[in-house]
Amino acid sequence: MKTLEVSNDIIDIIDVIEQLCGIQVDDRKLYLLEHRFGELMREASYSNYAELARCARDDRQLQQQIVERITTRETLFFRDGSPFQALQHKLLPEIIDARASSRFPRRLRLWSAACSSGQEPYSLAIMLRELLPDADNWDVQILASDISSTAITQAKQGVYSEHEISRGLSPAQLNRYFHKEGNLWRVQDKLRSMIRFEERNFLQPFTNVGMFDVVFCRNLAIYFSDGNRKDLFNRIANQMVDDGLLFIGAQEYHSDMSQRFTMEHHCRATVYRPKKRVP
Ligand SMILES: C[S@@+](CC[C@H](N)C(=O)[O-])C[C@H]1O[C@@H](n2cnc3c(N)ncnc32)[C@H](O)[C@@H]1O
Repeated sequence: MKTLEVSNDIIDIIDVIEQLCGIQVDDRKLYLLEHRFGELMREASYSNYAELARCARDDRQLQQQIVERITTRETLFFRDGSPFQALQHKLLPEIIDARASSRFPRRLRLWSAACSSGQEPYSLAIMLRELLPDADNWDVQILASDISSTAITQAKQGVYSEHEISRGLSPAQLNRYFHKEGNLWRVQDKLRSMIRFEERNFLQPFTNVGMFDVVFCRNLAIYFSDGNRKDLFNRIANQMVDDGLLFIGAQEYHSDMSQRFTMEHHCRATVYRPKKRVP
């Protein structure tokens, strides 16, 4: 009887979490509940997860707290290396050449979808600065989106600890693109001004995001159900130009990608291009 109560209790909160942000808490991750919500449960004296779930159903603030606690925001500069190398040495020069004869020869749009605290979009901005010495003459914009307001606040501020800085940046990049402020490092405006930050829940329709040449959607869909993941990548494909490029996480392999994308390998990175739409 006790076991049944406990599992019903947990099912309710797992359900709320998935409806709020798409993250699935499966049997192997039940330990996360105590780890992420134990303190909140004690502070607010919820007697069990069912009560937390019930209160969350129509309390926006509590919903936000649940999202902030359940999201895993691990990230670092130039994570996994190879997507950035493939872009810098091969794929972006190709896009730039292709754009030279187009209506908007100097326009580039990149999307760091699920950008966490900003290391990914700033890595893209650094790469573009190094690739395009005359970057100021280009109409370049990087959109950086995440559901977590904590993540977007830090990303917008662009202020990082020694530890965060030590993960992925070379000393030359640090000197060129950051200022030291006490024990912290602040991103220079020449990078920040290339990026637009926004809070966005990827379960919801992508209204007013525009079309992108390059999309990074890494280490988000691994937490989603098959259905939500398929829907997410379908909607991402709709936001990509015909010769656009999508990068997913190095540890991610989704067999259902082949419905909307073709897979290519460049410089040890796996890249997805949207398939041509049948009119
Ligand atoms: C592990 S981080 C990945 C960060 C970065 N893309 C990388 O690979 O280093 C996953 C991010 O997805 C965000 N996230 C989770 N659910 C989301 C949703 N429904 N909509 C938008 N972002 C979400 C989290 O807040 C978190 O910052």
